[in-house]
Amino acid sequence: MKYTLAFDVYGTLINTSGVFNSLEEMIGEKANPFVDTWRNKQLEYSFRRGLMNQFVDFSICTQNALDYCCQAFAVDLSSKQKETLLHEYTVLPTFPDVKMGLQNLKEAGHSLYAFSNGSKNAISTLLINAEIRDLFNGIVSVEDVKVFKPSPLVYEHFNTETNSTPSNSWLISSNPFDVIGAISYGMRSAWVQRTPDSLFDPWGIEPSLTIKKITDLKDQLEKTE
Ligand code: 2OP
Repeated sequence: MKYTLAFDVYGTLINTSGVFNSLEEMIGEKANPFVDTWRNKQLEYSFRRGLMNQFVDFSICTQNALDYCCQAFAVDLSSKQKETLLHEYTVLPTFPDVKMGLQNLKEAGHSLYAFSNGSKNAISTLLINAEIRDLFNGIVSVEDVKVFKPSPLVYEHFNTETNSTPSNSWLISSNPFDVIGAISYGMRSAWVQRTPDSLFDPWGIEPSLTIKKITDLKDQLEKTE
């Protein structure tokens, strides 16, 4: 069966730890906890804004979370240093399995879309820089519905935008909140377990598939109906 595949971007296709090296040069050993807190706070801000009905461009959540981390870690980054880090967030690297994995899926006849909290412009820049933009049929951003993942409205919007249905589309994400959100809406979802120690929330809602790399997905999908 040929599916319409929604690929989460940050943390799934794109490695958000890509800014780690610059950060380590700036703040040394605090870089590790800093980059983790930055990502978690960025997502927390998107969740809170979704509940508050206060949508902003996802890059604002990224910026606000960076400022939070500077306070939390008592790190005094100059505006130039912050600018450097925020720019790097727009040109992050892919994980090594991504390009080949996407190529395999495209050749197998599936329709591939990038699907993100990020704006269409931000995601397009990321994918072009990572030289994988041409593998996608398109980009779907939550900016069109002005609410963040995991609202059911964003998955519904994905189906509408791509002329697909919950039964012929899959969400592919390394973020458990995204996988649980998509399944709760009615789609199937593959969790990309990017590190052995990454945990899936014990909500009693399991991923439809669990894979370690995007290159595992084509064969796994062939076993499903
Ligand atoms: C996304 O790309 C934030 O990873 C999430 O939508």
